[in-house]
Amino acid sequence: MTTPLVEVENAQLHYRVGSAVSAMMGLPSVVKAVDGISFSLNKGESVGLLGESGCGKTSMGRLLVRLENVTGGSARFDGAEISQLKGRALRTFRSRSQMIFQNPFDAVNPRYTLAKTMAEPLANAGIPKSEWRDRIIKALELVRLADPEQYLDRFPHQLSGGQLQRVVMARALILEPDFVVADEPVSMLDVSVRAGVLNVFREVRDKLGLTAIYISHDLALVRYVCERTIVMYLGRIMEDGPTEAIVREPLHPYTQALVAAVPTPNADQSHEPLPIGRGAPDPRNPPSGCVFRDRCPKAFDRCAAEVPASKKVGTRHVACHLFDEAG
Ligand SMILES: Nc1ncnc2c1ncn2[C@@H]1O[C@H](COP(=O)(O)OP(=O)(O)OP(=O)(O)O)[C@@H](O)[C@H]1O
Ligand SMILES: [Mg+2]
Repeated sequence: MTTPLVEVENAQLHYRVGSAVSAMMGLPSVVKAVDGISFSLNKGESVGLLGESGCGKTSMGRLLVRLENVTGGSARFDGAEISQLKGRALRTFRSRSQMIFQNPFDAVNPRYTLAKTMAEPLANAGIPKSEWRDRIIKALELVRLADPEQYLDRFPHQLSGGQLQRVVMARALILEPDFVVADEPVSMLDVSVRAGVLNVFREVRDKLGLTAIYISHDLALVRYVCERTIVMYLGRIMEDGPTEAIVREPLHPYTQALVAAVPTPNADQSHEPLPIGRGAPDPRNPPSGCVFRDRCPKAFDRCAAEVPASKKVGTRHVACHLFDEAG
């Protein structure tokens, strides 16, 4: 039996927004970015978190590395409630879990040399200064930067996006974490360098046996990186299961729309519009019942009345009334 490293149970992250004036006008004052999510990750497992812009992927990731705290439910790491960690346990958690962000230029201080940027986590973790240089070089080699010494005295603007994202990845890995959340790590990069960075991510993950969450709105990328996929929509999980099964036979109508929108290989890179239209969902005002029902081509009465529970269907979990026993 493997024990889960990450366990999320009915987790919520509701942001308070708006002013007294907007409240008086009856406008909703809460964004339900994450609204009742449950899943677990075994050690060494990696999962893609997939969904359109605004569905709560980054918010979910931020909860898991404690850049935010749950406003309801539970998120545990190695058995401990993440939001309750303090002192030494919190410091240990900070070195064991890391997030890699979308834009590498936002992730580093433009006035720091790369040596200084890379040394920050080492200093925070109390690693003796005499070890820093070796560890920095080793981490840069891990992400396959050739001649790592030449980067130490450079500043971020002297690197390409792809090089800098490798440095950011190296910094996230320098304390040898167990768990990494990669939030669209290649979406800001030139198409020509994406594959290289993705391959480095996969290679490092496998080599270090990392447990990982790979966030993307692009099913083709998730498919390339992760054996398991969680499909999110408006703060909730629609479908969770093996990526290949999801791609071959999507069960949830939302997943079906995402799969239908993936361009065929060798076609140009532009995606087909989703067959359900682009109406950006508003998490301040989600529909009653199933949050997807106002865009769902298969919605029926029950979908407005009742939130669908997650049901096991073969190797997958699906939250859709089409899969209710009585439905
Ligand atoms: N700090 C915040 N305060 C208020 N609302 C927020 C905050 N951060 C995110 N939101 C809102 O929460 C919802 C989910 O945002 P989130 O960034 O998690 O989505 P996402 O799936 O990562 O989207 P994208 O693909 O565009 O990065 C959005 O409606 C967003 O506007
Ligand atoms: Mg995001």
